[in-house]
Amino acid sequence: MSTVYDRVRYPNWPSFRTHPATVGALARLLGRKCAPFNQCRVLEVACSEGVNIASMAVAAPASEFLGIDIAESPILRGAETIAWAGLDNVKLRVADIRDAQAIDGEYDYIIAHGVYSWVSADVRAALMATIGKKLSANGVAFISYNVFPGCRVRETIRDYLVHVLRDIADPQQRMEAARAALEYQISGWSEDHPFQKALLEAARDNLERPIEVLFHDEMGEVWEPQFLSDVCAAARAQGLDYLADAHPSLLNDGLFPSVRFEAARKHTGGDWAEFEQWLDFTDMRPFRWSLFCRAGEKIERIATPDRVVGLHASAELAPAPGPGKKAFAFRGKSGIEFETDDAALGGLLDRLTREPAVLLDEYAQAPEVVEALLRLYVNGAVTISTEKPVFALTPSEKPLASPLARAQARRGEAMLAALNHKPVRMVDPFWNSFLQQLDGTHTHEDLAQFMVAEGGKTIEEARLLIPNALKEVAGNRLLIQNEFLF
Ligand SMILES: C[S@@+](CC[C@H](N)C(=O)[O-])C[C@H]1O[C@@H](n2cnc3c(N)ncnc32)[C@H](O)[C@@H]1O
Repeated sequence: MSTVYDRVRYPNWPSFRTHPATVGALARLLGRKCAPFNQCRVLEVACSEGVNIASMAVAAPASEFLGIDIAESPILRGAETIAWAGLDNVKLRVADIRDAQAIDGEYDYIIAHGVYSWVSADVRAALMATIGKKLSANGVAFISYNVFPGCRVRETIRDYLVHVLRDIADPQQRMEAARAALEYQISGWSEDHPFQKALLEAARDNLERPIEVLFHDEMGEVWEPQFLSDVCAAARAQGLDYLADAHPSLLNDGLFPSVRFEAARKHTGGDWAEFEQWLDFTDMRPFRWSLFCRAGEKIERIATPDRVVGLHASAELAPAPGPGKKAFAFRGKSGIEFETDDAALGGLLDRLTREPAVLLDEYAQAPEVVEALLRLYVNGAVTISTEKPVFALTPSEKPLASPLARAQARRGEAMLAALNHKPVRMVDPFWNSFLQQLDGTHTHEDLAQFMVAEGGKTIEEARLLIPNALKEVAGNRLLIQNEFLF
């Protein structure tokens, strides 16, 4: 059966928040057990081309990954890329979510990213039933979706586009007409009018993303943002508990004693999901990354220091320029700055400026360091994972790029799956051919010779250029440690 996703390709990238190592770390901080990343089974429903699970599979050769999607073209394209990458621990299959309960076995991580609010109610029910049936005892399910009330503004954009495009069937024409229609309103809506200002921001955001995303999302046949409380009720009916949102900014109340939770208790009866639903009305949130686990065990929503044992912290941090008021001062990638006089915390953060990751076991006896670190985590300045990174920041003698990125390069993709499980854009076609050379068999001198043959450089120029080219590839987290030789 040909679907609209067969006709218009949806951009398919790794999604950091879905990764079992980050989801698992979060579950552990909330006191849950979780399956080890390199010994687990992962199911992604509506996986499109499977880039998300393939990117995970690169670093977990002993785990099994299965992706299903109803659209055949993305599955075929993805399966070919995975075969080129030599990943034999990932399988993609054409299947309807409505038949997913028949899939064999249980899964430790079930991912449904960007599908729940884009499918009809029967598919949503089948998805939740699949999770209820297939999630292992310590499993965690990830469901992301658009939510009300934050999507009311985007709903107006949808109403407008549905109206404007009512007589246009051809996908290409629909995308062109949608762009023109949004540009028309952007030139007319006023920043001074509160609702128009909100529409302006939403429309600009729509046009900043690939137009295919708008085509499938707000312009899709089904687009039904949900209320968190309804999603939690559907999960509860399948024997599942709401654990947390996977977005760190929503974890503050889950990891620390929450004044807001206590203040809302008289309205929410101390029900966590209900409390977060109230927060959605406060914050006008448009999107959620909800995690669910098997119901039964009480979830203790306060992170105690012992829960960091076995977890790794990493951060894109640098010492802050100039003398600060305190002994240690740092600046995060987003521009966030912080300083401390605490030697243990300062020492840990200093290590994070130099090391790809730090195992947190030794800090389990230092509650104030753990609390400060977790506050940086909820503010997005620090990442916490059950695994240490597999990327190499220094090119080896025979550099090795991620096999998935090499396969994507062979396909001519500009957006590649980096080893920090984020997409990275490498636009110049030079990178596509260069990356394919980084298969762990070529020395720097071989790469210089390649540059001469391909790029019309002299060997002297090429020898000078190679260190920078490799630095860029490593900086984009595309080099993998050579022990992962595929
Ligand atoms: C918005 S895309 C998201 C794709 C991917 N998860 C991502 O985030 O890049 C929605 C996906 O759901 C798939 N889909 C829709 N209905 C489905 C169904 N009944 N069974 C399986 N997949 C379905 C589509 O084919 C499409 O690939």
